[in-house]
This record gives sequence, structure tokens and C-alpha cells, in this order.
Amino acid sequence: MSTTKADILVHAEEGVTTITFNRVEKKNSITTAMYAQLADAFEAAAQDTSVRVVVLQGDVAIFSAGNDIGDFLQQPPATQDAPVFRFLRAIATFPKPVLAAVCGPAVGIGTTLLFHCDLVYAGDNAAFSMPFVNLGLCPEAASSLFAPQMLGYHRAAEALLLGEPFMAEAALEVGFVNRVVPPTECNMVAQAQARKLAAKPLSALIETKRLLKKSQTAAVLERMAEEGQSFGRMLREPAAREAFTAFMDKRRPDFSAC
Ligand code: COA
Repeated sequence: MSTTKADILVHAEEGVTTITFNRVEKKNSITTAMYAQLADAFEAAAQDTSVRVVVLQGDVAIFSAGNDIGDFLQQPPATQDAPVFRFLRAIATFPKPVLAAVCGPAVGIGTTLLFHCDLVYAGDNAAFSMPFVNLGLCPEAASSLFAPQMLGYHRAAEALLLGEPFMAEAALEVGFVNRVVPPTECNMVAQAQARKLAAKPLSALIETKRLLKKSQTAAVLERMAEEGQSFGRMLREPAAREAFTAFMDKRRPDFSAC
């Protein structure tokens, strides 16, 4: 009997829920079904009193290539209730600590979801990129708000207008990640930090996170909704369709008519 491989793995142990991108053959790109599973996992972990911390991780050579381009082409998110937006709201409002272990490329939402994590550990092979403009799109996940704050305006413009990647050391320099470690140690480091957090009083963690985020929560949700509207519209426009079709056809996009 054949079994279907799960593209998202969820494992709970001693107060730590670990969510693993498990679609390495497609560079951990994220389909609509995977967004729904991610949203469900975060919503369940928020409610479950036995969960104290969540860790998001990928593979030692790839964190995530972002949205699955073929899937987005076929079924672009139609409303704010689409799984991708449900996932973004769930992680943006998640009340308990979220850690990420990032090795290899983290493209698009693979990078922007990290703005919503509390602690980020990176392999020295991590490469962060937000190439939305190159895809005929605009920022999402409130990255248009977070990126200038965290990277400074000019570096944010480099990342978001030029779509240029920045590497682990540069990310460490600006405080986008907490620590850079050898890729084979990255998941272990994140797990060790998660276990430290899981041993602390949950009520104190939740209240501290709430206070840390308080000044921005409303602005983040408002920006995410505005970006989501534009992103959803732009997905259906010629520039994105040309970029996505070019990716599927393994050719360079031609934006001369866009
Ligand atoms: N959506 C759908 N499929 C994707 C994908 C994505 N975002 N990223 C990679 N894949 C698929 C490729 O089509 C390829 O499939 P195939 O083996 O059936 O041809 C497979 O994953 C391997 O990808 P490949 O590009 O050959 O790997 P690489 O190691 O040379 O490069 C990346 C890795 C992540 C740098 C590169 O795949 C990439 O840039 N992906 C697109 C990222 C992107 O633009 N994301 C959208 C953000 S909104």
C-alpha cells in the first residue's frame, strides 16, 4: 500500500511544536494546501495549552522557495480568507514564542514570515530574498512595514525594489537573525532555544510577547490587508502572469509590454 508524503510535518514534544517544510523536491515551495495546514497548525497551537513554543524549520539546504508558482498561477488567492492570508494572520497574531531555523534559500514568504518570528537562527548558507517586483508583485506579510524598520530604508529598497538577496552574515549585522551557525547545527540550536523557552512560565511569555508587539499589531494587520489586496489583484495582471509563465517554461520573463 502506498502512503502519501506529508508536505508539512507537525511534531509536538515537551511543549514544543515543530513545523517542518517537507517538500524538498520542489524546494519547499508552498501550495494552497500547505498554507491551509500551516494555518491550522498555528491556530491549533495557539489554543492548545500544552503547546508553549513553535519552531518552523526546513531542510539543511533549503528553507523555502516561497509560493508554489504553478499553484498560484492556477488558483490565485481570491479573498482575504484564502489559506495564505489565513496563515499570515495566524503567525502575525500567534501569542506564544515562534522560532525559525533557516538554511539555504528563503525566498518571498520564506523570508517575510520571519518578520513574525521571535527568534531566528540561520545556517551560514542562508540567503534571504523578497523578489516580488521581479514577479510583477508587491510585498506581503507586512514586509513593506517591517523591512525599512529592520534593515533601514535603503537596504529595504535594495531587497524589495531590486529583489537582491542578502546573506546570513548581512542578516545578522542588521539584527534580522539572532545567530549564524553551521547548517547542520541550525535545527538543533533552534530546538535547544525552544526547550529553554518551554521551561519558562507560559503566562509570562505570552504577556511579554503581547507587550513587545503591542505598539505595532494593529498597523501590521492593516498593512497585511492592504498588501494582500494589491498582491491578489497583481497576481492576475500581465506582469505576474508573464513572470510565472516564464518560470514554469524555464525562460527569462519579458516585461517589455508590462
Ligand atoms: N514554485 C514551484 N516550483 C518551484 C519553486 C516555486 N517557487 N521553486 C522551485 N521549484 C521547483 C522547480 O520548478 C524545480 O522543479 P522540477 O525539478 O520539476 O523542474 C525544482 O523545484 C527544483 O528547483 P530549481 O530551480 O531547479 O532549484 P535550484 O536549486 O536551482 O534553485 C531556488 C533553488 C529556490 C533558488 C529556485 O528554485 C528559485 O528561485 N525558485 C523560485 C523562487 C520564487 O520566485 N518564489 C516565489 C516567491 S513569491
